[in-house]
Amino acid sequence: MKLLKLKSLLLFLSAVGRCAGQDALPDGPVDAVLGKNVTFHTIVEATDKFLTISWTFNGGTDLVPVVTVAPGGMTFGDGYEGRVRVNNTTGVLILGPLKATDSGDYSVSMVNMKGATKTGETTLRVLEPVSDVVIKSDVPEAVEFNSTVVLTCTAKGSFLKFSWTNGTTPIVSDGKRLTVKSEDTASNLTVAAVLRTDLLGPIYCKATNKLEMETSAPFNLSVSYGPEDIAMTATPSAEVVRKGSNITMSCSARSSPPASFQWYNRDLMLKETGPKLVLSNVGEKQSGNYSCKAFNAKTQRYASSSVARVTVTEAISGTTVTGPTATLIAGIHAANLTCQAAKGTVVRKAWMKDNKPLSPSNHIVISEDQSVVMIKAVEKEDNGEFTCQLSNAVNTDTASYKMVVNYGPESVTVTGEDAVEVNDPVSIQCSAISIPAATFTWKFNGTASAVKTSVFAIDKAIYKHTGTYTCEAHNAVTGLSRSESLKLSVKEEGALAEGLSDGAIAGIVIGIIIALALAIGAVIYFRRKQAVTESPY
Ligand SMILES: *[C@@H]1O[C@H](CO)[C@@H](O)[C@H](O)[C@H]1NC(C)=O
Ligand SMILES: *[C@@H]1O[C@H](CO)[C@@H](O)[C@H](O)[C@H]1NC(C)=O
Ligand SMILES: *[C@@H]1O[C@H](CO)[C@@H](O)[C@H](O)[C@H]1NC(C)=O
Ligand SMILES: *[C@@H]1O[C@H](CO)[C@@H](O)[C@H](O)[C@H]1NC(C)=O
Ligand SMILES: *[C@@H]1O[C@H](CO)[C@@H](O)[C@H](O)[C@H]1NC(C)=O
Ligand SMILES: *[C@@H]1O[C@H](CO)[C@@H](O)[C@H](O)[C@H]1NC(C)=O
Ligand SMILES: *[C@@H]1O[C@H](CO)[C@@H](O)[C@H](O)[C@H]1NC(C)=O
Ligand SMILES: *[C@@H]1O[C@H](CO)[C@@H](O)[C@H](O)[C@H]1NC(C)=O
Repeated sequence: MKLLKLKSLLLFLSAVGRCAGQDALPDGPVDAVLGKNVTFHTIVEATDKFLTISWTFNGGTDLVPVVTVAPGGMTFGDGYEGRVRVNNTTGVLILGPLKATDSGDYSVSMVNMKGATKTGETTLRVLEPVSDVVIKSDVPEAVEFNSTVVLTCTAKGSFLKFSWTNGTTPIVSDGKRLTVKSEDTASNLTVAAVLRTDLLGPIYCKATNKLEMETSAPFNLSVSYGPEDIAMTATPSAEVVRKGSNITMSCSARSSPPASFQWYNRDLMLKETGPKLVLSNVGEKQSGNYSCKAFNAKTQRYASSSVARVTVTEAISGTTVTGPTATLIAGIHAANLTCQAAKGTVVRKAWMKDNKPLSPSNHIVISEDQSVVMIKAVEKEDNGEFTCQLSNAVNTDTASYKMVVNYGPESVTVTGEDAVEVNDPVSIQCSAISIPAATFTWKFNGTASAVKTSVFAIDKAIYKHTGTYTCEAHNAVTGLSRSESLKLSVKEEGALAEGLSDGAIAGIVIGIIIALALAIGAVIYFRRKQAVTESPY
């Protein structure tokens, strides 16, 4: 209607000259921001020379002249003086600062020297600037999976469009959890069953119109979640721990806000809270199955850890081996060895002899429970160190008993020359195996001598020294004695040095035979060689 009215008016106005059509202005509408200036461009030829240029505004009710340029000068419509500038060659109009009431239809009519008229019309839309873009949440906080959060973005301005981004990623309705709904001046982003990562982007809302764009401040909403991935560790991690040691248990869980922790031994709630449980100087009574429970007050959710089994065991100490204290004589005495610990629970017992495992034999019996080693009659082989090893899960304690079995003398041997020359020195040795060491006495031809050492020595032999030398070894503990003899003959000087022994004679004879054999062999060899070299002719 308005447009028709304006058109008829323009037709009327241009009735003076020839109508040149709607060719003075580019296609509209023209958008401009409130408070700023707008420029209406015109389409003119460089050759165009205009006598009059006339701009008119149709605010909806009346036609209002804006400005008219005529050879006599410019005339401004009511309220336009100071708000418009017009170029008298091109007709370009600058209007501003713009008010909301400047929105409407504008027309121009330009008459040139030849009386031809150019007209144009367009619409100005004065846009309110975009401002106050703000995100608000309908809830101050949210619980993961449970909460539905509605974020509302509001803004001031005309012809607004809204868009949402999470960081730099656009958020669009996914038909499931995320819904975006927009109106003229507000947009709602609805997040159903919110996830912890949904609103940490941070989230931005952008409001735009054709001319302007404004982004909201970054928005975060804390989403409570957890506890989850609860983990419990104990140090030391071994199930069995030594009595008196310190155990530290730690509990952790992914949770926002951080979870609180409660500790349990079996189903018994302990007074300790916090992520760490320290048990110092533990006793057997503190054995049990430990676990922790994490609780998030915001989500009202719990998580329970796995169970750490703890067994407190006292270490074995004060181990002793009890054995015979009286003197032991081989073949006569019996011996029992027993092993005991002063403290700790013994789980395993083992016996060693001289660092090798002790195995039962025909005369050693080890009781089934390894607690006693029984020897009915000790033997010389039983000499040595018996070690008892007591162990449990936390340690091994050992104790030893040194067994001394008295025996012998055995293997009495007398060594020395059986013949010497007069004036030669003589040394006859006597040895015996015995515990304790044997004492020695000597007899010559059955008569006791004064010699009490293992060696019977004579500086210079005389004929009278010929005879039988008897050594008697005696063990004072076993009370046993054993004798061995050696016959010595004292010969005249030179009797042993001269003359060859039967062995020497035999050796010489063999040597001569070998020499003869070699000589014969050599003769045969050379004869043959000679025969070969002479043969070809
Ligand atoms: C807007 O137009 C007015 C009047 O013509 C002028 O005084 C002012 O400087 C212009 N402002 C801008 C930003 O061009
Ligand atoms: C009018 O516009 C023309 C072309 O843009 C320019 O050369 C001329 O200076 C302008 N005149 C005035 C008075 O601004
Ligand atoms: C946005 O949500 C609010 C309530 O949070 C509601 O009043 C308003 O109508 C919603 N707007 C749209 C576009 O859904
Ligand atoms: C949003 O959260 C991120 C990550 O937690 C943080 O770096 C950023 O400072 C927060 N921004 C605001 C506005 O709270
Ligand atoms: C146990 O902790 C206490 C302090 O709480 C400390 O004095 C003690 O030495 C620790 N014991 C062991 C075995 O580490
Ligand atoms: C979350 O939802 C579950 C199941 O719908 C409900 O049992 C629980 O109470 C809710 N938690 C909170 C904190 O609202
Ligand atoms: C050794 O123990 C056995 C069995 O207990 C016992 O019969 C024997 O008399 C004990 N012998 C000694 C020497 O104690
Ligand atoms: C010792 O006995 C040997 C023979 O058994 C005898 O030849 C020798 O004369 C005796 N010597 C002495 C001093 O009796």
